[in-house]
This record gives sequence, structure tokens and C-alpha cells, in this order.
Amino acid sequence: MRHLMSPLDFTTEELDRLFDLANDMERHMDRYAHVCEGKKLATCFYEPSTRTRLSFEAAMLNLGGQVLGFSDAGSSSASKGESVSDTIRVISCYADICAMRHPKEGAPMVAASRSSIPVINAGDGGHQHPTQTLTDLLTIRSLKGRLSGLTIGLCGDLKFGRTVHSLIHALVRYENIHFLFISPEELRMPSYMTEMLHEKGIDYEEVIRLEDCIGKLDLLYMTRVQRERFFNEEDYIRLKDSFILNNEKMKYAKPDMLVLHPLPRVNEIATEVDEDPRAVYFKQAQLGVYVRMALIMTLLGAERPNGN
Ligand code: CP
Repeated sequence: MRHLMSPLDFTTEELDRLFDLANDMERHMDRYAHVCEGKKLATCFYEPSTRTRLSFEAAMLNLGGQVLGFSDAGSSSASKGESVSDTIRVISCYADICAMRHPKEGAPMVAASRSSIPVINAGDGGHQHPTQTLTDLLTIRSLKGRLSGLTIGLCGDLKFGRTVHSLIHALVRYENIHFLFISPEELRMPSYMTEMLHEKGIDYEEVIRLEDCIGKLDLLYMTRVQRERFFNEEDYIRLKDSFILNNEKMKYAKPDMLVLHPLPRVNEIATEVDEDPRAVYFKQAQLGVYVRMALIMTLLGAERPNGN
């Protein structure tokens, strides 16, 4: 039995196979309509979510399986003090696979250690968000045709942003990646991340102004300044509009630069940018369904349909 706690749980070769499967699912959705018949996915979300929870549920329904779960801790017995360890032991009696989001770093790992079904980390605090990373990598590979030889700007909340931390861990395994970290001083990339890059000999620059570097980028990964990770409302209000991408800034970007965002967006990307063909964040959300279908199928060991 295999869990997914970090994007590094899969080798790059396994990721290639997963992405090939996801691309095939996008082309031939109907062929996969019965591969998980009789199987159930539990979505245990102790934190709010739109995309991750619903795309997991859509993915399982697309595969012919069924879904059950809860979408906030308050409607589960966590509100009565039940531990994650006890909850997963019970969920293991009801479902075949579980996707869990939790505000505490490491909670899905605790669940996995007590579970008799595969557990997928659907985001744990400021730590990791591996299925968002799989979505991001699939988007880059599908739309850029490669995962190496890219100059990638990551912009916004680089301190608390679990999506950027997960993505960087995954991308350092590919060749010739250059990072530009674009954030205000208070939301800089944590030192444990920059130390990891130093150790691996990976090139990065820290930049204060998006307009100073947008022209160099093959990919701009925008992120939200996350109100829920701040201890102090004043700091949040002071920093929330630090970087806003608009059509004026997009004029200085390469004609084939892609703009990704894990979403939700607040106002860090002006809605006028949505019409720009380089803005691919809604396509990215759509690809998240296919990669989660491929992941569920892989972790359940479901057989491929005839003809594949
Ligand atoms: N990208 C992402 O994790 O979105 P949700 O919080 O809506 O799941």
C-alpha cells in the first residue's frame, strides 16, 4: 500500500507515467468511466477548500467510484476531540482511499501511519500540497512541453505558501531550472528552502519588484497572500496588495510566458489578465482533475481499461 505525502514520494519516471496517464484521461475520459467501480474515496477536509476537495470528488466520480466525507472539522467528531489517528482507523472501515487536508503540518502523515487504506495529503498547514504540485507539473509539462530548462518566477507569499514549497522541491529534480523569488521582505522564502537550494547547487535570485524581472521568465507562478496564516491582521492588510499582476506588467513578459496560480485568487491578478492567452490558471484547475484521477487509479492499483 502506498500513500502520497510529498511530491517526492514519486520518482521522476513514475511522475512521467502518471502524467502520461492523466493526458490520456483528458483525451479519452469515457474509457476510464468504470475503472474504480465499487471503490469509495473519503475526503476528510479539516480546512476550507474548493478545488482540491471538489476535484478529488469529480475525479473519483469520473472513474465510476463513489465519494463520502466531511468538508470542515466542525461537522466531524474532531469538534468533540477525536484524534486524527482514531478518525482514519474508522474511515479505513468505510472507504478504500482517503484525501485529507489539515491545518497542522504532519497530520496526514500521522493518519497514514495508522491507516489501512492509502492516504493522500491534500495540504497540511504551511508544509506541503503534493497534489497541487502534481497539477502544476502536469500543467507545465502539457503546455510548455518540458519540465527542464525553465526560468521560473514565484511571486507573493513565499514564506507561508505550501504550494510554492512543494513545487520547488519537485522542480529541483529537473535540469537547468532557475528560480526568481519575488516577494516583500516579510514574506521571503524561508531559510530552510534557500539552504536546500544552496546544498543542491540550484540557482536562485530574490527580487523585490515583479516588473524588474517579468521579462526574463518562462513561467510566473503567482500566489495569494494568505490571511489565515497571519497572526496579526495589520501585517496582512499592509502586505496583501504587494504584488498585483495586470495587463500593464504583462506587456513586459515574453510572448510565451505562462501565468499559473494555484487559486483561490484574491486580487493579486487583475481580472483583465484572465483574457490573456498566457493566463492558464483555470486550465491548471481543470488539469487537476485528470492528475487526481491518475493518482487515485495508481494508488488503488486499478487496472487500465482495455486498449491502453
Ligand atoms: N489550490 C487549492 O488548494 O485550492 P483550494 O484551497 O480551493 O482547494
